[in-house]
Amino acid sequence: MLKNLLAILLMLTEISCTTPGIYPSSTSRPRRDYVAYGSQAAISTAHPLASQAGLAILKEGGNAADAAIAASFVISVVRPHSTGLGGGGFLLYHNPDSKALEAWDFRERAPSASQKDMFLTQEKKSKDYSYKGQSLKHASQNGPLSVGTPGLISGLLKFYHEHASMPLARLMSDAIAIAENGFPVYPSLEAALKKRQDAIFFFPASQKIFAPNRSLLTTGDLLIQKDLGKTLRAIQSQGADVFYRGWIAKKITQDIQKYGGILSPRDFITYTTRTSSPLIGTYKGYTIASMPLPSSGGIHLIQMLNMLEDDTFNTKEPMHYENLHIIAETMKRAYADRAHYLGDPLFVKVPTNSLISKAYAKKLRQSIQKDATPADQIHNGSFPIEPTTTTHISVVDAWGKGVSTTQTINGYFGSGMVAEGTGIVLNNEMDDFTVHPNIPNLFGLMGNEKNEIAPKKTMLSSMTPTMVFDQKGSLHLLAGSPGGSRIINATFWTIFNALSHKMTLADAVHKSRIHHQWKPDTIYHELDLLPKETIQKLQEKGHTLKSTRAIGDVQAIMKRPDGSWTAVSDTRSDGQPLAF
Ligand code: DON
Repeated sequence: MLKNLLAILLMLTEISCTTPGIYPSSTSRPRRDYVAYGSQAAISTAHPLASQAGLAILKEGGNAADAAIAASFVISVVRPHSTGLGGGGFLLYHNPDSKALEAWDFRERAPSASQKDMFLTQEKKSKDYSYKGQSLKHASQNGPLSVGTPGLISGLLKFYHEHASMPLARLMSDAIAIAENGFPVYPSLEAALKKRQDAIFFFPASQKIFAPNRSLLTTGDLLIQKDLGKTLRAIQSQGADVFYRGWIAKKITQDIQKYGGILSPRDFITYTTRTSSPLIGTYKGYTIASMPLPSSGGIHLIQMLNMLEDDTFNTKEPMHYENLHIIAETMKRAYADRAHYLGDPLFVKVPTNSLISKAYAKKLRQSIQKDATPADQIHNGSFPIEPTTTTHISVVDAWGKGVSTTQTINGYFGSGMVAEGTGIVLNNEMDDFTVHPNIPNLFGLMGNEKNEIAPKKTMLSSMTPTMVFDQKGSLHLLAGSPGGSRIINATFWTIFNALSHKMTLADAVHKSRIHHQWKPDTIYHELDLLPKETIQKLQEKGHTLKSTRAIGDVQAIMKRPDGSWTAVSDTRSDGQPLAF
């Protein structure tokens, strides 16, 4: 009784100190709940249908792995512009009973016929993609050469065999029904279609699905994906083999090669999901577990939290210019290190332990001045070399197990290519490699030879699926986000706001964000929300500021003091949290 009262009281305080709907991303978008409470289980995803599919599984007695798998399949159907069977991802898994804490890497890999300079012209400029006299800009971002070997099906099915408890047939049934019966196009999907219409009309198999009557689908139209339904059914009955060794791999590689690409059946046969342990850091007594390489996310999330751990912030005014100055300078230093040090650890040496050490963070923190340091004067930090060494889903279940997974096909509609007869939108993840040190990628990120293209290598990522554990070692918070280079900072803000400023999860997610990625030397602030005086004060310190679209789309879950869960979907986009 007392516990219930406490829960209601907590809920009321949480609601009252939250400003709902700070970021209506579109006024025509139906208003959705962005926060849910439950004592048993919770899920946050970027689409209501995916959250509902996950919740149904949890209510049927499924565990967090079951729910995450079901939600992943549905999100692959309802967000074809951002993720899907033609992409890949990362996942963290925790099981308190077995004490398991695992990091799963099912990201795309470079085709074995890839070459370091494959996207460069003789003048070392970015090459365009051409086919039968027509072309699309940037072959690393459009068309068959931009496609890495997809990993999603390998990852989800391996994860299924290790941790799920329900039949695969049930976990895939909602996704199949939605693919075959269709779902209404929503405003942000319509916007993504418009943005990528050049690529969609370039490839007839893409046009057939997304512009069936020669004009792009718009909000309210039903998007029916019969071929994708057939593909999903094949996987449902035959497992991952049909994707990597059967007709699906055959169709994808035939289509890619027809258009001049290099992905081969061998690349599919040799694809493997890798499992390891998350990267571990600490912040104010909490344990931060996040994605290790080939993601840069965990390293820089931990590095930034380390740098800020001893600072005293103005918590009454979280967006005070002095707070923002220190945080922007912290981001700048972390992203400078990203560009210099990071790449696939199976190919290059990365000093991970030094990058996430408290001593190194202290040294970097000391380099932050009262005024802004220009990006050109920030080079990677130095330390002793080590001896040897984009949609997010968060789920917790009644057993305390958790899954935090970020999945992507990279840019909107990936390469723009659907493999004929499969319904699968193929990724353009090859653009996450550093094509050339002077050519920024789709997200403006720079890099060097550490992240250059090589056969079978994994391109560096920013995806940051994260879990936070409390002082007793219990799962406390799960979070992650899409947003390319902005992923690390969007995840950082959520965790920082919750742990440093003790905000409710709803506030931690919805507070306005800034983003700095070293180069360009600019603080991006969201939607003109920073007060004029704050902008002026930061300019006086030497910062350049630019207003930008929303930063990230966080899907998060956090434990409340009574042990129940708050699930939050960012109002910056279309997600929905559900809990019971
Ligand atoms: O792995 C990465 O870092 C990128 N491919 C993520 C792409 C992304 O988040 C796109 N969303 N806006």
